[in-house]
Amino acid sequence: MSSPPYAAIRGWGMAVPRRVVTNAELARQIDTSDEWIRSRTGISQRHVAGPDEFTSVLATAAGREALERAGVAKTAVDTVIVATCTPDRPFPATASTVQHNLGLPNAGAFDLAAACSGFVYGLSVGTGLVKSGMSRTLLLIAADVFTHLIDWQDRNTCVLFGDGAGAVVLQATTQPQGVLASNIGSWGEGETMMAVDVGGTRQPATPALLEQRRQYVYMHGREIFKHAVRGMCESAERAVADAGLNLAAIKLVVPHQANLRIIEAVAKRLALPMERFFVNLDRYGNTSAASVPIALYEAAQQGHLVAGDLVLLTAFGGGLTWGSCVVRWGSALPQ
Ligand code: ACO
Repeated sequence: MSSPPYAAIRGWGMAVPRRVVTNAELARQIDTSDEWIRSRTGISQRHVAGPDEFTSVLATAAGREALERAGVAKTAVDTVIVATCTPDRPFPATASTVQHNLGLPNAGAFDLAAACSGFVYGLSVGTGLVKSGMSRTLLLIAADVFTHLIDWQDRNTCVLFGDGAGAVVLQATTQPQGVLASNIGSWGEGETMMAVDVGGTRQPATPALLEQRRQYVYMHGREIFKHAVRGMCESAERAVADAGLNLAAIKLVVPHQANLRIIEAVAKRLALPMERFFVNLDRYGNTSAASVPIALYEAAQQGHLVAGDLVLLTAFGGGLTWGSCVVRWGSALPQ
């Protein structure tokens, strides 16, 4: 039997922690202001996980909603991918915990690490698995509790991030839906532009390093900014061309939600009006891998996407990594 040529997006879900932290609240703790954060980033608030809201908890909630919306039987799911750079534990994979939590007896499960590009990477890989015939019903979740890596005393980073999870169900179809073209990229030379250096096998945590707060993320914001704009634009243009389209055909761009100024710069460089970009970072901040699926979820729920629409997803993150997908939006229920 030949494999179905497409992987339609059948269902979507999201979850964020209960607690909202406003800019004003941060300004009471560190030397910053609501005005600085909003004018430099566009962020007004973010959701921050409590001790009972670790990565698999958020991932499970988002995955459950996506499965319910897709209306697929639990026994039909054959693959679970969790894109995350903040797993529950170094080992085993968070995806296995989620597979158990959701009761998916026939699914293989693995994690995928590509920082903020995780969902776009996962959508490319997941589509490849479906197209090859290896998977027919796949649950892709992107979930990060990025605030776990944040030094709340470092104003350069702590104002930017929030926690959350987003999920989609991919299902094999002969209809021309789902990812029509995609690409992923990496520039490992840029690994120290944004990283957590301590806590892995290269530099295990020691009391002295923890004392120096080296277990937290550091970032060269201005450099990342430039690479983000270039990386997202070049990969987006390539994905659109590979789909045999031009940018005018794209109904909505759903970019990684790191900074409104980055999105505005991407829009300018692609010569697209900002109205075609979906933005919700004002309420969530940068939720790392979860940012694109949370934005996609809200775009769909708010009626910005109907079956047949062409959507461009583009992301950028630590690694450095980037990627883009051109998606023909499917419907919630199998046709
Ligand atoms: N409040 C007040 N002042 C601040 C704050 C803050 N929260 N943070 C930095 N500043 C200060 C700096 O100390 C600096 O002061 P100085 O001039 O006295 O040294 C001043 O503001 C300007 O700093 P810049 O870095 O020039 O500010 P910029 O306009 O570049 O904005 C920002 C900084 C928001 C970090 C921006 O560079 C950016 O968004 N970069 C991209 C970061 C990003 O998206 N990272 C995520 C990548 S995706 C992933 O993988 C998770």
